[in-house]
Amino acid sequence: MQYDILIVGAGVAGLYAALNIPPSKKVLLINKTRPWECNTYYAQGGVTTARDEADIPVHIADTLEAGAGMCNEEAVHVLSETSREVVRDLIERGFAFDRAEDGRLLYTKEAAHSADRILHAGGDATGRYLHHFLLRNNPHPMLANATVIDLLIEEGQVCGVEVLHKGERKQILARQVIIASGGVGSLYRFHTNAYSISGDIQGICVEKGIPLEHMEMMQFHPTVYIGNQSVRKQLLSEALRGEGARIEDEDGYRFLQDYDPRGELAPRDIVSRALFDYRKKTKKQIYLSFEDFDPEYFHRRFPNISENLRNMGYAIPKDRVPISPAFHYAIGGIKTDLEGHVEGVKGLFAVGEVASTGVHGANRLASNSLLEGLVFARRAADAVLSEEGSRCLGYFPVNREPLFLEGDKEKKERLRRIMWKHVSIVRTTEGLKEACEEIEAMLRPPIGRLLKLRLLTAREIVRAALARTESVGVHFRES
Ligand code: SIN
Repeated sequence: MQYDILIVGAGVAGLYAALNIPPSKKVLLINKTRPWECNTYYAQGGVTTARDEADIPVHIADTLEAGAGMCNEEAVHVLSETSREVVRDLIERGFAFDRAEDGRLLYTKEAAHSADRILHAGGDATGRYLHHFLLRNNPHPMLANATVIDLLIEEGQVCGVEVLHKGERKQILARQVIIASGGVGSLYRFHTNAYSISGDIQGICVEKGIPLEHMEMMQFHPTVYIGNQSVRKQLLSEALRGEGARIEDEDGYRFLQDYDPRGELAPRDIVSRALFDYRKKTKKQIYLSFEDFDPEYFHRRFPNISENLRNMGYAIPKDRVPISPAFHYAIGGIKTDLEGHVEGVKGLFAVGEVASTGVHGANRLASNSLLEGLVFARRAADAVLSEEGSRCLGYFPVNREPLFLEGDKEKKERLRRIMWKHVSIVRTTEGLKEACEEIEAMLRPPIGRLLKLRLLTAREIVRAALARTESVGVHFRES
């Protein structure tokens, strides 16, 4: 199978890249499980956009401030300066953001934004609506249930990928490959991600010496309902706090003010750490309260959250809901330039959560990620089209490592517990070293390849966390 372009991943970044590549190109999208198992599908909040020209410098300033001095400023300028253009493009193609009765676009606010500049769709289902829209408009074929198990590279040129599809290993060749496979959620015990997101391709990069960067920067969302049984936990969008939801302890005390005068609207690293610290010190249960909302407005504005919580037995908005932080977003990833080029491998690109352009610095500003997916996917698509790529002539022996072995499942669970205990909101040298040793031990053969890739990615996160001895943004070192 020989293609011009392969796109690995069918979330916002993969699908928007696909939309920007004409059908005259032979393109294949590869998707690990079912097309909707991606983080985009579960995104609630929305798509940030500069409201107008005057808002661009303000959006940039908010992004840089949240990023705690570690953003790539050029990337942030590109993000904000292109935001209106990609939003216009979506609207012109027929995507319906929520509007008021008089037709005005509705904007909401989330933490650390100094203006209401987040567009949403379906109330609190922006990701699902956007994903459905992009899938419907995708002009290229898609191969579902295909797990990438290797990147094919010959003399510094990407040649395609090897996948596991319907129990068989297959090589799919291409002149150019865009990786848009998402973050690392399944490495953590509690997370808000699609279950298929497990950092496999970051692990392949470790094997191949392809640089990852800022892997210590893992973002935790402060308001997650973790009472449901599944590994993926129920996100309670930051837009709830942006519009008046309160965080309180079991006695109704709003302790966040003791940590930061911005309270519920402080950046999410600060809120997550405050929750972690308060719970540790007081052992009190923490809640999200929606008491100040008008019930009719709440159900209309947040229909999915409302329905999900009601299904779990809560009378919303009257009842408050117990919350905890959970892993949410990988800021670090495959190091790229602003066109998505991956250093050292011709024809290889990465975009979206799997990539690190430096746009989020040490702490991603809420709802900048769908925007990032759109902006940088389009830039990568433009670069792919202008460069063509070259065809490899080589022969690649099939990777013979066993993919799964008995005992992998138990180690996968152990890894999740280790990452949650030692590599989450508050980190210590001792804990990180222990995590590193445990991961090294689990990496000893025999293990299946898919577990090995997760472990390599996890080890990279731990090593990066150990190497950064100071606290910055989401990376907090207690010792
Ligand atoms: C949310 O709705 O709180 C998530 C938004 C984001 O992660 O950017």
